[in-house]
Amino acid sequence: MTTIGIIGAGHIGSQVARAAITAGYDIVISNSRGPETLADLVADLGPKARAATPTEAAEAADFAVVTVPLKAYEAVPVEPLAGKIVIDTNNYYFERDGHIAALDNGLDTVSGMLQRHLVDSKVAKGFNHIKSDDITTDGTPAGTENRRALATASDFEEAAELVTNLYDELGFDTVNVGPLAESWRVERDQPAYVVRQNKHELIENLTKGVRATATA
Ligand SMILES: NC(=O)c1ccc[n+]([C@@H]2O[C@H](COP(=O)([O-])OP(=O)(O)OC[C@H]3O[C@@H](n4cnc5c(N)ncnc54)[C@H](OP(=O)(O)O)[C@@H]3O)[C@@H](O)[C@H]2O)c1
Repeated sequence: MTTIGIIGAGHIGSQVARAAITAGYDIVISNSRGPETLADLVADLGPKARAATPTEAAEAADFAVVTVPLKAYEAVPVEPLAGKIVIDTNNYYFERDGHIAALDNGLDTVSGMLQRHLVDSKVAKGFNHIKSDDITTDGTPAGTENRRALATASDFEEAAELVTNLYDELGFDTVNVGPLAESWRVERDQPAYVVRQNKHELIENLTKGVRATATA
Protein backbone atom coordinates (compact mmCIF):
# COMPACT_ATOMS: atom_id res chain seq x y z
CA MET A 1 0.00 0.00 0.00
CA THR A 2 1.20 3.49 -0.81
CA THR A 3 0.43 6.27 1.66
CA ILE A 4 0.00 9.86 0.54
CA GLY A 5 0.63 12.47 3.20
CA ILE A 6 -1.54 15.50 2.51
CA ILE A 7 -0.73 18.84 4.11
CA GLY A 8 -3.83 20.99 3.73
CA ALA A 9 -7.34 19.57 3.94
CA GLY A 10 -9.38 22.21 2.15
CA HIS A 11 -10.89 22.19 -1.33
CA ILE A 12 -7.95 20.57 -3.09
CA GLY A 13 -6.57 18.44 -0.24
CA SER A 14 -9.92 16.78 0.41
CA GLN A 15 -10.59 16.20 -3.28
CA VAL A 16 -7.15 14.74 -3.99
CA ALA A 17 -7.77 12.47 -0.99
CA ARG A 18 -11.14 11.30 -2.38
CA ALA A 19 -9.76 10.59 -5.83
CA ALA A 20 -6.62 8.88 -4.52
CA ILE A 21 -8.58 6.63 -2.16
CA THR A 22 -10.76 5.55 -5.08
CA ALA A 23 -7.52 4.72 -6.92
CA GLY A 24 -6.38 2.54 -3.99
CA TYR A 25 -4.09 4.80 -1.95
CA ASP A 26 -4.03 5.26 1.81
CA ILE A 27 -4.22 8.85 3.02
CA VAL A 28 -2.92 10.71 6.05
CA ILE A 29 -4.39 14.21 5.93
CA SER A 30 -3.63 17.30 8.03
CA ASN A 31 -4.52 20.94 8.49
CA SER A 32 -3.42 23.84 10.69
CA ARG A 33 -6.02 23.40 13.44
CA GLY A 34 -5.37 19.79 14.45
CA PRO A 35 -6.57 16.29 13.54
CA GLU A 36 -9.66 16.50 15.76
CA THR A 37 -11.08 19.17 13.43
CA LEU A 38 -10.89 16.69 10.52
CA ALA A 39 -13.17 14.05 12.08
CA ASP A 40 -16.07 14.68 9.68
CA LEU A 41 -13.81 14.64 6.62
CA VAL A 42 -12.08 11.44 7.68
CA ALA A 43 -15.44 9.77 8.40
CA ASP A 44 -16.52 10.76 4.91
CA LEU A 45 -13.28 9.48 3.34
CA GLY A 46 -13.60 6.10 5.06
CA PRO A 47 -11.15 3.54 6.46
CA LYS A 48 -8.28 4.31 4.08
CA ALA A 49 -7.92 7.80 5.57
CA ARG A 50 -6.75 9.11 8.91
CA ALA A 51 -6.12 12.60 10.24
CA ALA A 52 -2.83 13.71 11.74
CA THR A 53 -0.65 16.76 12.29
CA PRO A 54 1.34 18.06 9.29
CA THR A 55 4.53 16.55 10.72
CA GLU A 56 2.87 13.15 11.21
CA ALA A 57 1.39 13.27 7.71
CA ALA A 58 4.83 14.09 6.30
CA GLU A 59 6.43 11.26 8.31
CA ALA A 60 3.83 8.73 7.16
CA ALA A 61 4.03 9.78 3.52
CA ASP A 62 5.54 7.64 0.79
CA PHE A 63 4.99 10.85 -1.13
CA ALA A 64 3.22 14.05 -0.12
CA VAL A 65 0.87 16.71 -1.41
CA VAL A 66 1.29 20.29 -0.16
CA THR A 67 -1.95 22.16 -0.63
CA VAL A 68 -2.03 25.11 1.75
CA PRO A 69 -2.44 28.80 0.91
CA LEU A 70 0.93 29.95 -0.48
CA LYS A 71 1.39 32.38 2.43
CA ALA A 72 1.73 29.30 4.72
CA TYR A 73 4.31 27.38 2.68
CA GLU A 74 7.17 28.03 5.10
CA ALA A 75 5.22 26.20 7.83
CA VAL A 76 5.43 22.94 5.86
CA PRO A 77 7.71 20.57 7.82
CA VAL A 78 11.08 20.15 6.12
CA GLU A 79 12.89 17.25 7.79
CA PRO A 80 10.18 14.54 7.53
CA LEU A 81 9.79 15.29 3.81
CA ALA A 82 13.53 15.02 3.05
CA GLY A 83 14.19 12.58 0.22
CA LYS A 84 10.48 12.38 -0.65
CA ILE A 85 8.53 13.51 -3.68
CA VAL A 86 6.22 16.42 -2.83
CA ILE A 87 3.41 17.50 -5.14
CA ASP A 88 2.79 21.24 -4.96
CA THR A 89 -0.74 22.38 -5.84
CA ASN A 90 -0.19 25.94 -4.76
CA ASN A 91 -0.98 29.13 -6.62
CA TYR A 92 -0.17 32.75 -5.90
CA TYR A 93 -3.06 35.07 -5.12
CA PHE A 94 -1.63 38.39 -3.91
CA GLU A 95 -5.08 39.24 -2.54
CA ARG A 96 -4.77 36.28 -0.14
CA ASP A 97 -1.01 35.74 0.13
CA GLY A 98 0.27 39.33 0.10
CA HIS A 99 2.53 40.62 -2.66
CA ILE A 100 5.66 38.59 -3.40
CA ALA A 101 7.85 40.76 -5.61
CA ALA A 102 9.77 37.92 -7.25
CA LEU A 103 6.47 36.38 -8.44
CA ASP A 104 4.96 39.73 -9.45
CA ASN A 105 8.09 40.38 -11.51
CA GLY A 106 8.38 36.96 -13.13
CA LEU A 107 11.67 36.20 -11.40
CA ASP A 108 10.54 33.10 -9.47
CA THR A 109 7.87 30.42 -9.48
CA VAL A 110 5.50 29.24 -6.77
CA SER A 111 6.93 25.73 -6.88
CA GLY A 112 10.50 27.02 -7.02
CA MET A 113 9.86 28.72 -3.67
CA LEU A 114 8.57 25.49 -2.14
CA GLN A 115 11.55 23.55 -3.57
CA ARG A 116 13.98 25.92 -1.87
CA HIS A 117 12.06 25.53 1.41
CA LEU A 118 11.99 21.72 1.07
CA VAL A 119 15.63 21.66 0.09
CA ASP A 120 16.08 17.87 0.28
CA SER A 121 12.70 16.94 -1.23
CA LYS A 122 11.77 16.48 -4.88
CA VAL A 123 9.01 18.97 -5.63
CA ALA A 124 6.69 18.56 -8.61
CA LYS A 125 3.87 20.84 -9.67
CA GLY A 126 0.48 19.11 -9.70
CA PHE A 127 -3.27 19.74 -9.56
CA ASN A 128 -2.77 23.53 -9.56
CA HIS A 129 -4.80 24.34 -12.67
CA ILE A 130 -7.94 22.31 -12.11
CA LYS A 131 -10.91 23.33 -9.97
CA SER A 132 -11.11 21.11 -6.93
CA ASP A 133 -14.54 19.66 -7.77
CA ASP A 134 -13.31 18.55 -11.21
CA ILE A 135 -10.67 16.24 -9.71
CA THR A 136 -13.31 13.63 -8.86
CA THR A 137 -15.59 14.22 -11.85
CA ASP A 138 -13.44 14.91 -14.93
CA GLY A 139 -11.21 11.84 -14.92
CA THR A 140 -11.65 9.27 -17.70
CA PRO A 141 -9.81 6.07 -18.63
CA ALA A 142 -6.57 6.26 -20.61
CA GLY A 143 -7.23 6.43 -24.33
CA THR A 144 -10.60 8.22 -23.98
CA GLU A 145 -11.04 10.68 -26.81
CA ASN A 146 -10.48 14.29 -25.70
CA ARG A 147 -9.25 13.15 -22.27
CA ARG A 148 -8.49 16.06 -19.97
CA ALA A 149 -4.78 16.78 -19.48
CA LEU A 150 -2.97 18.34 -16.55
CA ALA A 151 0.52 19.78 -16.32
CA THR A 152 3.44 18.90 -14.13
CA ALA A 153 6.95 20.30 -13.80
CA SER A 154 9.90 19.25 -11.69
CA ASP A 155 13.67 19.41 -11.45
CA PHE A 156 13.56 15.64 -10.78
CA GLU A 157 12.55 13.20 -13.50
CA GLU A 158 11.23 10.65 -11.00
CA ALA A 159 8.94 13.25 -9.43
CA ALA A 160 7.41 14.20 -12.79
CA GLU A 161 7.02 10.47 -13.51
CA LEU A 162 5.19 9.91 -10.23
CA VAL A 163 2.77 12.75 -10.99
CA THR A 164 2.26 11.38 -14.51
CA ASN A 165 1.35 7.95 -13.10
CA LEU A 166 -0.91 9.45 -10.45
CA TYR A 167 -2.71 11.66 -12.98
CA ASP A 168 -3.26 8.60 -15.17
CA GLU A 169 -4.65 6.59 -12.26
CA LEU A 170 -7.01 9.45 -11.45
CA GLY A 171 -8.08 9.80 -15.08
CA PHE A 172 -5.94 12.50 -16.65
CA ASP A 173 -3.26 12.78 -19.33
CA THR A 174 -0.06 14.65 -18.48
CA VAL A 175 1.99 17.34 -20.13
CA ASN A 176 5.44 17.76 -18.58
CA VAL A 177 6.34 21.45 -18.75
CA GLY A 178 9.97 20.75 -17.83
CA PRO A 179 11.93 22.09 -14.84
CA LEU A 180 10.27 24.15 -12.10
CA ALA A 181 11.70 27.29 -13.69
CA GLU A 182 9.19 26.72 -16.52
CA SER A 183 6.21 26.14 -14.21
CA TRP A 184 5.12 29.79 -14.51
CA ARG A 185 3.48 28.64 -17.76
CA VAL A 186 0.75 26.96 -15.76
CA GLU A 187 0.41 29.57 -13.02
CA ARG A 188 -2.49 31.95 -12.49
CA ASP A 189 -3.69 34.08 -15.42
CA GLN A 190 -1.76 32.10 -18.03
CA PRO A 191 -3.76 30.61 -20.94
CA ALA A 192 -3.31 27.08 -19.53
CA TYR A 193 -4.69 28.03 -16.09
CA VAL A 194 -7.93 26.34 -14.92
CA VAL A 195 -9.53 25.63 -18.28
CA ARG A 196 -10.48 22.20 -19.50
CA GLN A 197 -7.88 21.13 -22.06
CA ASN A 198 -6.91 17.90 -23.73
CA LYS A 199 -3.21 17.14 -24.17
CA HIS A 200 -2.94 18.88 -27.54
CA GLU A 201 -4.75 22.01 -26.29
CA LEU A 202 -2.67 22.14 -23.12
CA ILE A 203 0.60 21.95 -25.08
CA GLU A 204 -0.64 24.78 -27.29
CA ASN A 205 -1.74 26.94 -24.36
CA LEU A 206 1.59 26.41 -22.59
CA THR A 207 3.41 27.86 -25.59
CA LYS A 208 1.10 30.92 -25.55
CA GLY A 209 2.10 31.88 -22.01
CA VAL A 210 3.54 35.36 -21.47
CA ARG A 211 5.54 35.90 -18.33
CA ALA A 212 5.29 38.95 -16.11
CA THR A 213 8.41 41.10 -16.42
CA ALA A 214 10.38 42.85 -13.74
CA THR A 215 9.51 46.49 -13.30
CA ALA A 216 12.29 49.06 -13.15
N1 LIG B 1 -9.66 25.66 -4.73
C1 LIG B 1 -9.26 25.27 -5.94
O1 LIG B 1 -10.08 24.88 -6.79
C2 LIG B 1 -7.77 25.25 -6.25
C3 LIG B 1 -7.38 24.71 -7.48
C4 LIG B 1 -6.02 24.56 -7.75
C5 LIG B 1 -5.06 25.00 -6.85
N2 LIG B 1 -5.47 25.59 -5.69
C6 LIG B 1 -4.38 26.06 -4.78
O2 LIG B 1 -4.12 25.02 -3.85
C7 LIG B 1 -3.84 25.56 -2.56
C8 LIG B 1 -4.91 25.10 -1.58
O3 LIG B 1 -6.15 25.60 -2.04
P1 LIG B 1 -7.55 25.23 -1.38
O4 LIG B 1 -8.59 25.85 -2.21
O5 LIG B 1 -7.60 23.76 -1.10
O6 LIG B 1 -7.42 26.03 0.01
P2 LIG B 1 -8.41 25.98 1.24
O7 LIG B 1 -9.71 25.35 0.87
O8 LIG B 1 -8.40 27.33 1.85
O9 LIG B 1 -7.65 24.95 2.24
C9 LIG B 1 -6.38 25.25 2.76
C10 LIG B 1 -6.00 24.16 3.72
O10 LIG B 1 -4.67 24.42 4.15
C11 LIG B 1 -4.62 24.25 5.56
N3 LIG B 1 -3.52 25.00 6.12
C12 LIG B 1 -3.36 26.35 6.19
N4 LIG B 1 -2.19 26.63 6.79
C13 LIG B 1 -1.61 25.44 7.12
C14 LIG B 1 -0.43 25.07 7.77
N5 LIG B 1 0.43 25.98 8.20
N6 LIG B 1 -0.17 23.75 7.96
C15 LIG B 1 -1.05 22.80 7.53
N7 LIG B 1 -2.20 23.09 6.88
C16 LIG B 1 -2.48 24.40 6.69
C17 LIG B 1 -5.97 24.75 6.05
O11 LIG B 1 -6.19 24.24 7.33
P3 LIG B 1 -7.07 25.08 8.41
O12 LIG B 1 -8.41 25.23 7.80
O13 LIG B 1 -7.02 24.23 9.63
O14 LIG B 1 -6.35 26.39 8.58
C18 LIG B 1 -6.88 24.11 4.99
O15 LIG B 1 -7.14 22.78 5.31
C19 LIG B 1 -3.82 27.08 -2.75
O16 LIG B 1 -2.51 27.51 -3.02
C20 LIG B 1 -4.72 27.29 -3.97
O17 LIG B 1 -4.44 28.50 -4.64
C21 LIG B 1 -6.80 25.72 -5.36
